Amino acid sequence: MNLEVVILAAGQGKRMKSAKSKVLHEIAGKPMLHHVIETAQRLNSQKTHIIYGHGGEQVRQSIDDPQIDWTEQTDQLGTGHAVKQVLPVLSEDSLVLILFGDVPMISHSTLENLIKEVNDQQMALLTIDMQDPTGYGRIIRNSDNNIIRIVEHGDATEQERAVTEINTGIMAVGGRQLKKWVSNIKNDNKQSEYYLTDIIEMAVNDQVTVKGVSTDDEVEVTGINDKIQLQKIERAHQLRQAEELMRNGVTLADANRIDIRGKLTAGQDVSIDINVICEGEVTIGDRSVIGPNVILRNVSIADDVTIHANSVLEDARVGSGSRIGPFARIRPETELSDNTHIGNFVEIKKTTVGQGSKINHLSYVGDSEIGSGVNIGAGTITCNYDGANKFKTVIGDNVFVGSDSQLVAPVTIGDGATIGAGSTITRDTPDNKLTLSRSKQISIDNWQRPVKTKK
Ligand code: UD1
Ligand code: CA
Repeated sequence: MNLEVVILAAGQGKRMKSAKSKVLHEIAGKPMLHHVIETAQRLNSQKTHIIYGHGGEQVRQSIDDPQIDWTEQTDQLGTGHAVKQVLPVLSEDSLVLILFGDVPMISHSTLENLIKEVNDQQMALLTIDMQDPTGYGRIIRNSDNNIIRIVEHGDATEQERAVTEINTGIMAVGGRQLKKWVSNIKNDNKQSEYYLTDIIEMAVNDQVTVKGVSTDDEVEVTGINDKIQLQKIERAHQLRQAEELMRNGVTLADANRIDIRGKLTAGQDVSIDINVICEGEVTIGDRSVIGPNVILRNVSIADDVTIHANSVLEDARVGSGSRIGPFARIRPETELSDNTHIGNFVEIKKTTVGQGSKINHLSYVGDSEIGSGVNIGAGTITCNYDGANKFKTVIGDNVFVGSDSQLVAPVTIGDGATIGAGSTITRDTPDNKLTLSRSKQISIDNWQRPVKTKK
C-alpha cells in the first residue's frame, strides 16, 4: 500500500503567546513542523498533506517542497473536521498515517511499528501509559482487552478518567475506511467539536480491529502547547543528542551544556567543553579539542585542532594541528591550512591562510590570500573596503608583517618580504626586502613637559 501522511497543524497555539504560528517554533534550531515532515518523508510517504489554519501563510512559506500538499482548514472545529478537509485528495488505496505538527519528536521506528500493523481488517493507534493522564483522551478497552473507543478527558466519567493509557493522537488507517468513518463524525459532545477519535468506535462497529501500539517514550509523543513544554522537549532532545555523541566516544564536559542545532559529526577522542553550540553541519576530526563557549556554525575542523574558549567560527574550514582563539572570530569563506595559529581578538573573513602561518593578536584580515610560513604581527589590518567596494590583499610565503601595519588593498606583499612595524602599505612590495613607511623618529632637546596651570 502507498503511504500518505496527514499532518494536523491548524490549531492556533494561543498558549505560545506568540505572533508566530505554533508549529514554526523551533526544536534544535528547526521548526517543529519540519521535524515532523522530515520523519514522514523518511518513511517514504507518497504524499505529505499538511492541514494548516486560517492565517497559516507563514507556515506555507516556511516550506518549499512540491511533494507537500496543502489543505486549509478555515475554522478549527476539531481533529475530525481537520482530517475531513483532506479526504477528497486522499486515495482509497493508500495507508494513511495521521501525525500532529506540534508533536515534533515522534520517531521513525515507532511510526514503522505502527504502520506495519495496518491491513484491511485492522487499524493502528499509538498509545502510551501516562502517570498523569489529565487532559488526554483515554483508551477504553473491553473485557478481552481490545480497544473499543476513546473518550476525551472532558467527556469522561470518573471511572474512565482513572485510565492511564492515553491516545497520543497518532494513528494509521486504510484510506477507504478513513474516508467512510470521518465523513460520519458528529459533534455531539461537550466541546461541540468533531473528534477524530470517534472513528475508533466506528472501526469496532465495522469489525475492524483497533490495534494499540504502545511506546514508553513520553518525549516522542509530547505535544507542545507552550514555551515551558517547548523548553522541556528542547532539553530532552539535546540530552539525547549528547548521549549519542558520548556513546560514539566523544568526551563531553557536561551533557547538559551542549547544544546541537543541526548535525555534528565527530571523530575519535574529540573533547568538548561546556556551553558549546554547534549549528548546521559541523565536523570535528580526531583528537580535536573544543574549549568552553565556542560557537561553530557550518564548520569543518580537521584532526588535532584546538579551539580555545569563546571563539566563534562560521562557514569555515580549519586544517589539522591548528590553534584558534581564545576570542577569535572566523567568518564565512575562511580556509585555514594545517598548523595555523589564529589568536585572541583576531577577525578573519573570506581569507585563505597557508600552512603554518600565524595571526596571533588583535588583527583584522579580510578578502585576503596568505601564503605559508607567514607571521602577521599584532594589530595588523587589511584595509579591504573603500566605502563602496572590496579589494584583495595577497601576501606571499614567509612574509613577516610588523605590528600595527595597515595593508591598503588592492595590494600584494611579495614572498619573503618584511614589513616594518607601524607601516601603511599602499603599493605592492618586492620579494625578500624590508619595506616600511613610517615617519622619521626625532627627539626634541630641552623640551618642557607642560605643567598644570593654577586657577
Ligand atoms: C487530541 C485527541 C486526544 C489526544 C490528544 C493527544 C481528539 C479529539 N483528541 O486532543 O485524544 O489524547 O490529542 O495530544 O483528537 N488540530 C487541527 N484542527 C483542529 C483541531 C486540532 O489541525 O480543528 C490540530 C492541532 O493543531 C494539533 C492537533 O490537531 O496539532 C491536536 O489538536 P488539539 O486541539 O491539541 O487536540 P487535543 O484536545 O489535545
Ligand atoms: Ca493538544
